[in-house]
Amino acid sequence: MLLIFVAVTAAAFVAVAVLVSSIVEEFLVSQRIQQQTKETARAALEAAPAYAQADAQAVYSFVLSRAQSMDGRLLLLDQDAVVQADSASQHNGYRVPYREVRDVLVRGVDAAHGFHRITRTAESVGLLAPDEETVWAVYYAAPLIQNGECIGVILFSSLIQDVENSVREVVSRITLIFVLVCISIMFVSLLLSNWLTKPIAELTAAIRNMGRKGGARVQVHGAGEMVELGKAFNRMSEQIEAHDRVRDEFVANASHELKTPLSAMKILSESMLYQDEPDPAMAKEFFADINSEVDRLTRIVSELLRLVQEDTTDAPLETSMGRLDILVERVMARLQPIAAQKGIALTCDLTPTTCEFEPMRMEQVAVNLIENAIKYTDEGAVSVTVAPRGDQAEFSVTDTGIGVPEDAIPKLFERFYRVDKARSRSTGGTGLGLSIVKEIVERHGGTITVRSVVDEGSVFTVRMPLGKGGADV
Ligand SMILES: Nc1ncnc2c1ncn2[C@@H]1O[C@H](COP(=O)(O)OP(=O)(O)O)[C@@H](O)[C@H]1O
Ligand SMILES: [Mg+2]
Repeated sequence: MLLIFVAVTAAAFVAVAVLVSSIVEEFLVSQRIQQQTKETARAALEAAPAYAQADAQAVYSFVLSRAQSMDGRLLLLDQDAVVQADSASQHNGYRVPYREVRDVLVRGVDAAHGFHRITRTAESVGLLAPDEETVWAVYYAAPLIQNGECIGVILFSSLIQDVENSVREVVSRITLIFVLVCISIMFVSLLLSNWLTKPIAELTAAIRNMGRKGGARVQVHGAGEMVELGKAFNRMSEQIEAHDRVRDEFVANASHELKTPLSAMKILSESMLYQDEPDPAMAKEFFADINSEVDRLTRIVSELLRLVQEDTTDAPLETSMGRLDILVERVMARLQPIAAQKGIALTCDLTPTTCEFEPMRMEQVAVNLIENAIKYTDEGAVSVTVAPRGDQAEFSVTDTGIGVPEDAIPKLFERFYRVDKARSRSTGGTGLGLSIVKEIVERHGGTITVRSVVDEGSVFTVRMPLGKGGADV
């Protein structure tokens, strides 16, 4: 990125340097030419009278002094372009073949100039120069006019090397600026990238940490998106932690629950084993106990399996529109004998209600709730209602049983949670029933709530989204 940036900047600078130097050069040169063309014309005007009178001395001294003041070399040529006077040399009488001169003499132009590459000897540039060097010069030609007639040409030659030097100066300054800009770009982008990548590096480190031991958090600062990312990461980390905790608890609870019947069976079987002559009646009792422990184990394992299935399956529910009241009625009929055995009045108030559910699973919900109500009611009544209410189907189970202490209510749906372990055990509870119920109801898009007062009773209410059909009256 940085390299690309520098390359682009360099290209821009080269373009600017080329452009600026050519503009500067053009400007300086044209200015110079304009000025010197004017000076040459003035010199021609002044030299004409002396030249016309053929005053060699006057002409020569004019050429000499004017060449000095104009900072160049001045020559006077006759109509045949033959040198008559030269500020830089005593050697006259040769023809000058330059185009500028011809333009003035033959084509009769007022002023002409041309560029020439000339050799400057070491002598003329001083001691520092190399032996020989070629430099750019401009030759200006202007006619010597006397009485409206061209009687000769004045030729002025001036170096423009200094213009080139100025341009070189400009280019070298631009280069210097470019180098400075590059250095500051690198510096700034280094700082910037450091500033930008630091949060990413922190996040990466935290993620690595999390893989190792969990509970990683990042300190979020920096740009807006980075803060969001950091927060999202922290939230995810918290969730993973919570998940881990739930899983650990679950495994611990499950092992504990499975161990209890196993230990009981172990004790029972050992006591049988070490009896030399077991009393058949007692043996039968022991076997009956072992048998009930096996039943319990079977129930725990099958409920665990069901729960895990509800929890982990990705398969969608096989729901269909159905009459919830009819389903509940069927479950009631099945549980009626158990209620009757306990001397509990099981009543219902069922309004035809159609909603979408998976019959097998919904039946589990009804069985679990009604079973609990019967189980946790010593004497009294259990009443069940099903009715559409608003845009929801409401199914509630009310009992006049032992109730649930307020602080236990939030935990009711946790796996293996039981308010009174001893009692629940004696009634064959595993503490998994309500977790399964909640899981199923939530998978149907419904909710389950509890209201309960100790020694007065409880109400468990399931609310499900009502199907498109609504109440079926
Ligand atoms: N209708 C109710 N009345 C009083 N307590 C209840 C009722 N339903 C459930 N509970 C309490 O909630 C606990 C969890 O219920 P559940 O998950 O069905 O487990 P269990 O296998 O013990 O029935 C029960 O052990 C019991 O203490
Ligand atoms: Mg139960």
